[in-house]
Amino acid sequence: MSERWTPNSWRAKPIQQVPTYPDTAALKGVERQLAGFPPLVFAGEARKLKRALAKVAAGEAFLLQGGDCAESFAEHSADNIRDFFRVFLQMAVVLTFAGASPVVKVGRIAGQFAKPRSAPTETVDGQELPSYRGDIVNDIEFTAGARTPDPRRQMEAYRQSAATLNLLRAFATGGYANLENVHRWMLGFVKDSPLSSRYRELADRITETLDFMRAIGIDPETHPEMRITDFYTSHEALLLGYEEAMTRVDSTSGDWYATSGHLIWIGDRTRQLDHAHVEYFRGIKNPIGMKCGPSLEADELLKLIDLLNPENEPGRLALICRFGADKVFDRLPALVRAVKREGRAVVWSCDPMHGNTIKAGSGYKTRPFEAIMLEIRNFFAVHQAEGTHAGGVHLEMTGKPVTECTGGARALSDADLHDRYHTFCDPRLNAEQALEVAFLMAELIKRERQGRERPRVEAAE
Ligand code: PEP
Ligand code: CO
Repeated sequence: MSERWTPNSWRAKPIQQVPTYPDTAALKGVERQLAGFPPLVFAGEARKLKRALAKVAAGEAFLLQGGDCAESFAEHSADNIRDFFRVFLQMAVVLTFAGASPVVKVGRIAGQFAKPRSAPTETVDGQELPSYRGDIVNDIEFTAGARTPDPRRQMEAYRQSAATLNLLRAFATGGYANLENVHRWMLGFVKDSPLSSRYRELADRITETLDFMRAIGIDPETHPEMRITDFYTSHEALLLGYEEAMTRVDSTSGDWYATSGHLIWIGDRTRQLDHAHVEYFRGIKNPIGMKCGPSLEADELLKLIDLLNPENEPGRLALICRFGADKVFDRLPALVRAVKREGRAVVWSCDPMHGNTIKAGSGYKTRPFEAIMLEIRNFFAVHQAEGTHAGGVHLEMTGKPVTECTGGARALSDADLHDRYHTFCDPRLNAEQALEVAFLMAELIKRERQGRERPRVEAAE
């Protein structure tokens, strides 16, 4: 695929998961309008994220990526954004301490609206309607009008993304992200958790560290870096017409960037080598992700890496693995070995959500906390065995006390799911469950670090 790339060259390729808009003139009009709107993020920020991810690829940092499966227009509020950000920062502190290395913070937020579906239509009581494809495309309500793709929803998604990002930027730089605040919130979680005793030791060590730093004069009042944080946005760039409209030339480098978010990723259903999504992604310079599901073979992965990161630039490509807890040992080692053998610099990240979705007896789609943790453990075990870096985690989570995934310290059961099942798409970890994942992962990260630090005694190769 050495043909010339343009922001719309994807239009000549086969495409999966594309909505059928009845009013194509209206769609064109919206895309034209969006193309004139200000970018949501800047190229310089995307480059900074790429440099941070290059450290992850080199084994010197960890990627924390998470947020809603699907953002919705109905749940757009300051409270939701704040509660997510609070939990996310606490997770980052736990992981930073465990790894004694930076954590790159990337939300699935401010643009995570378009959803791939397993079938183009859905039938309820004999009525067949288009599937819900995310609020940027149509409405979840099961009526013919609501399910008809409406291009004006793209304007609303842009507006919501801009407002969300604006608040996140204020939180990240305006003092809310102060390390001592974050630490105080975390202590509240530990105190209230039924597994308090398991989490307390790590929390206490962080407390002592902060006390020590304060004693020697390092505190948020005197050190602005303790009051601010770098936070980046990401989403699955599924709706390519919207993405094309938001693709802009960076005036300093002359390169094309997706300006709808800092990092965008290709979903597991749309990563065909000769199709539209791979074509679009190969031309933009942002850091990108690609989901790797159980059907991906090593030779195909290498071809995709050739297309998506031909210059082997570290930090450009994150491989987000989502096999299912029981398939990790079967699928991941071959991919890791092929990438290592070919000397490709990638970020290996674990999405323990999408391969572990089940239908509960109650009829709700859910994910057992134990399966999520098992996939993460297996992911770390493979990287340990292969001598590679378990570089990140990708979670569907919220800052609210929803009841969508079973298990965790409060042992949510199938019978509890109906209580606060609010997701617009896949089941998310609630605030406590998300923090628990961070505390349990801290043990794995620490083990990886100690393995690296242990003096090497094995014979030369
Ligand atoms: C998602 O991340 O919400 C998603 C649809 O994932 P995948 O492409 O891995 O199925
Ligand atoms: Co999802």
